[in-house]
Amino acid sequence: MTSQQTSSFTHLPHPNPVSAEKRAELLANPGFGRVFTDHMVTIRYKEGLGWHDAKVEPRAPIPMDPASAVLHYAQEIFEGLKAYRTPDGGATLFRPEQNARRFNESARRMAMPALPEELFLESLSQLIDADRAWIPDGDGSLYLRPFMFASEAFLGVKPSSEYLYIVIASSVGAYFKNKADAVSVWVSQDYTRAAPGGTGAAKCGGNYAASLLAQAEAIENGCDQVVFLDAVERRWVEELGGMNVFFVFEDGSMVTPPLGGSILPGITRASVIALAKDKGITVREEPYSIEQWRADAASGRLREAFACGTAAVLTPIGTVKSKDGDFVIGNGGSGARTEELRNGLVGIQRGQVPDPYGWVRAV
Ligand code: PLP
Ligand code: COI
Repeated sequence: MTSQQTSSFTHLPHPNPVSAEKRAELLANPGFGRVFTDHMVTIRYKEGLGWHDAKVEPRAPIPMDPASAVLHYAQEIFEGLKAYRTPDGGATLFRPEQNARRFNESARRMAMPALPEELFLESLSQLIDADRAWIPDGDGSLYLRPFMFASEAFLGVKPSSEYLYIVIASSVGAYFKNKADAVSVWVSQDYTRAAPGGTGAAKCGGNYAASLLAQAEAIENGCDQVVFLDAVERRWVEELGGMNVFFVFEDGSMVTPPLGGSILPGITRASVIALAKDKGITVREEPYSIEQWRADAASGRLREAFACGTAAVLTPIGTVKSKDGDFVIGNGGSGARTEELRNGLVGIQRGQVPDPYGWVRAV
């Protein structure tokens, strides 16, 4: 399939979709990542043939050969973005072309074929068209999960010659259970997420597999999320298991760790930087150490810290714990700057305020 053929999706509507009544029940309190819609998109790739066989079909288990390369060598990438219901009853996506671009950057790092950006965008529109009724009202959204994996049945270690691209969708509420509260984070001193030259900047499943033990340690220590330090000096704050991080200082300026190849280049991160700069806030992309974080929290120089990402939106960080002891940021709750930036971002995402950036795309 070439980019000119993006509309050639075969439609196989679900013969037995979830009833409107059952759907309303599910959407009342969806949590995160447990409620799935009726359909999925699938597109196949084969060396020599390219992308082909695009379908919107009932969401169902996928038959896989046990020798499929992804099951052995983890050649897999994914994206995450949300569709929002707008006040006028329409729906929007937030900067989906950025997800398309990052998907292909991840594909390149994992020696996978690029998916034409128009085909990526079309696949999202197709699934939203089929499952529009699953976009929750109010604070909720429809989380879209495009992913691609190596499907060739072969045990030699080499890039697969066949891939399956799929998009599924999940009606979601807040990522963290206590959404009004600040989260606590655990600084992992034993485990790192990504090393220079590694796959940290790619959104590949393996990065998340590598984060799970550190995340489990965070939970054991009563924290919501893990914070990773750099793999070389083990002192520079990189990011959380599934979010980027920002620091807000008493002079109003903000710091976020620079993208050096071991951090995921978050689309929320880039948007927060743009929003903050347009509000006249100084944002520095510079290394920030765990010792400095502790010292600045103690002296009061650091006023706020927040995590940001598609799933987490903007979530204040209240407490930081580690083997070296705990510290609290500000009053341990949210702060004015975090709230201001969150409201600005969410307002644009949900079509509640004008979008001067052209970030929002009606679907
Ligand atoms: N960092 C990691 C490791 C993530 O998984 C995510 C979520 O996608 C982010 C950062 C934030 O990225 P984005 O804002 O594009 O969702
Ligand atoms: C996202 O925010 O889209 C992610 O992939 C992060 C994960 C914590 C769900």
